[in-house]
Amino acid sequence: MDLPCLVIVCLCLVQVQKSVGQLQSLTRLQEFGLGNLDFGARLQVPNTSALIEKEGFNSETHKAEAEDGFQVHLSRIPSKGVPVLMNHGLFIASDAWLLRGRDKDLAFLLAESGYDVWMGDLRGNTYSSTHKNLTQRDPKFWDFSVQEMGTYDLPASIDYILATTGHDSVIYIGHSLGSTMYFVMCSERPEYRSKVRLMMGLAPAIYFKRSPGLLFKIARQYSRLYQESISFRGPRQVLPRNQLRGATASLFCRSAPTQNICLVILYFLAGLASLTDFSQVDKNLLPEFVRRLPTGTSPKTLQHLGQMSKSGRFCKFDYGPKENMRKYGTKSPPDYKLDSVTGPVALYYGKGDILIDVQDVAEVTEKLPNLVRNFTVANDKFNHMDFLWAKNAKQLVYDDMLKLMKLYT
Ligand SMILES: *[C@@H]1O[C@H](CO)[C@@H](O)[C@H](O)[C@H]1NC(C)=O
Ligand SMILES: *[C@@H]1O[C@H](CO)[C@@H](O)[C@H](O)[C@H]1NC(C)=O
Ligand SMILES: *[C@@H]1O[C@H](CO)[C@@H](O)[C@H](O)[C@H]1NC(C)=O
Repeated sequence: MDLPCLVIVCLCLVQVQKSVGQLQSLTRLQEFGLGNLDFGARLQVPNTSALIEKEGFNSETHKAEAEDGFQVHLSRIPSKGVPVLMNHGLFIASDAWLLRGRDKDLAFLLAESGYDVWMGDLRGNTYSSTHKNLTQRDPKFWDFSVQEMGTYDLPASIDYILATTGHDSVIYIGHSLGSTMYFVMCSERPEYRSKVRLMMGLAPAIYFKRSPGLLFKIARQYSRLYQESISFRGPRQVLPRNQLRGATASLFCRSAPTQNICLVILYFLAGLASLTDFSQVDKNLLPEFVRRLPTGTSPKTLQHLGQMSKSGRFCKFDYGPKENMRKYGTKSPPDYKLDSVTGPVALYYGKGDILIDVQDVAEVTEKLPNLVRNFTVANDKFNHMDFLWAKNAKQLVYDDMLKLMKLYT
């Protein structure tokens, strides 16, 4: 790296550090109701169904109600084929699967191959933001982490899809946190294993102790802020999608010279491409990508990820020894059981992933009883968001996924 580039990286890091500090005041703003200006109804970027229709497909939207009352938003490209459920990762939404178009995005390729495509939205993001009897102003609304996503939301989504389509099982695809949910479900709700005929995890977030990515550094940092925010104010949404911020960021990323800074920030924060090679990023679409980032989650989700990243364990939320004893009967939180994942699992991961390190995934593969694909992407620079946004994702990843899925349909 040359000197100017290094300076830019340092500036970015300082900026990111500052924003960590600002997270706390952000939660405070929301206490006065200002945070709600950002939310839901004001969203003007084309939503998931608009993006589906733009490519000439039919779209449907559904709501699956989870056992604890949360309503999970599901978008569908309907067909009579085998249902495929896709869940995205942290700080993005279902629309991230659909930004490049018909012959490029995984969701469209699946639809063209005859699958019935369902895309979930993670609890607490822009789309999945309603509850049967709680509002977003209620602190209890935000009292969830990946534990609830795996225990309630994924089973509810699967049941809803099976009831709607009449099929008896789905194929599941999870990117990053979307795959974490599946492993939580297998451990917590073993009766659901038979309802998934194949699970495909892209950059699966199970162990991430080695991860040098900034997201986890922030998550670890955030653990401490959360302790304060929960005792004084109760939890609130973290980093919701904000139209103004999105528009500014997209302007910043539109053209040189700021576009290069934008790419470097995206590399560190989201895990896009490689510092030495951004050729696989479609620069024209960059503004589209960033205007949708981030899309909000709960503080507890960030804290849970921070805890797991610190401890190197795949385990339940750590409430501290006293509360753990009450909730779990043990001083430290119990591990999710990877040996309970008895259905077929295919894992795809990249050597250039700055959020999910290959060695961490390799460790997971050793513990899975029914691994049917152990797929390291054949490009050393392949990074975390490249599974969704890289120009070469189809050749490097999707083609193999489609081939494998055929064996299960
Ligand atoms: C998506 O946007 C369209 C307008 O483009 C609107 O009619 C529709 O209700 C929106 N869907 C959801 C689920 O918000
Ligand atoms: C809200 O729904 C949950 C889960 O269904 C239930 O346990 C709770 O009692 C309800 N609360 C109110 C105020 O109705
Ligand atoms: C999967 O591949 C990785 C990297 O090549 C390797 O370290 C690991 O042992 C493999 N896992 C299994 C179960 O074969």
